[in-house]
Amino acid sequence: MTTPTVVLTNNKGGVGKTTTTTNFAYGLCQSLKQAGAANPRVLIVDTDSQAHATLTTTGSKDYSRHKSICAVLGADRKEMVQILSKVIVESHWLPELHVLPSSTELEQTERELFSAAGAPYRLADALSTIRHHYAAIVIDTRPSFSLMTEMSLLAATDAIIALEPRYLETVGLQSVINKITEIREGWRHPDLRLSGIVVTKMDRRVKGHIEMIEQIRQHPTLGKLVCGVIPANEAVAYAHRSHMSIYEYDPSSAAAEAYAHMVGWMLKRLFVKEPV
Ligand SMILES: Nc1ncnc2c1ncn2[C@@H]1O[C@H](COP(=O)(O)OP(=O)(O)OP(=O)(O)O)[C@@H](O)[C@H]1O
Ligand SMILES: [Mg+2]
Repeated sequence: MTTPTVVLTNNKGGVGKTTTTTNFAYGLCQSLKQAGAANPRVLIVDTDSQAHATLTTTGSKDYSRHKSICAVLGADRKEMVQILSKVIVESHWLPELHVLPSSTELEQTERELFSAAGAPYRLADALSTIRHHYAAIVIDTRPSFSLMTEMSLLAATDAIIALEPRYLETVGLQSVINKITEIREGWRHPDLRLSGIVVTKMDRRVKGHIEMIEQIRQHPTLGKLVCGVIPANEAVAYAHRSHMSIYEYDPSSAAAEAYAHMVGWMLKRLFVKEPV
């Protein structure tokens, strides 16, 4: 079985992609460990120059071009494994949770790649050399459909869309679905499937939020893809500030419980391949 490679995506900013990437990756790794998996290792790939996933999981975002994903995107295939083993670091969260860090220099690297041969496939090619070492890979993307995001979608097997429960967000949802379809069909990457929709910052006191969730749940195809509904919860912000996962910061918080539920749902989807 190929290693599931999950990309968190939405070109809209601030919808919880990074929060979900890091906490989902942690939950996956912890669950695999608790289940006694021979290989519970999970890799977070940070493709956003804001480097928030890198910061919260490693305590630093000061990774230079040579110590980050930039080095990987510019490398020749024959030196790839060596470079990856140099730049991937252990997270502070779990020894089995590893991070391919981002860098503030990533946008410059991306500009340089525009004219490079096979640029859109550089991340997919790089990850294919170490995929077997991991039980799963989780990719955080930046809020745009840039070349870097296209590289991330081309490297992935499963896409999860993070979304806030607001009307305009559901309008945006269609453009994200269109992008995933374009990568799968137009770019001929049939392995990519839309595997989940995670609704974040849900406030049950807001009528519009409840209505939007109901609307998605009743949709004939999208309804089956709701993999998590994460409540708006200030513990998330405090956990970020402490560079901790929500599970460590406050395991009894509503957000920790919701993320644990999402991990359980996705474990079945990724490893048991339950039909939805
Ligand atoms: N469930 C939640 N409850 C409360 N605040 C949240 C929740 N999820 C995320 N946030 C907050 O919302 C903000 C944006 O979250 P996050 O960085 O995960 O979004 P993003 O989609 O990765 O943003 P960007 O598009 O800029 O990369 C952060 O300040 C985060 O702390
Ligand atoms: Mg982010």
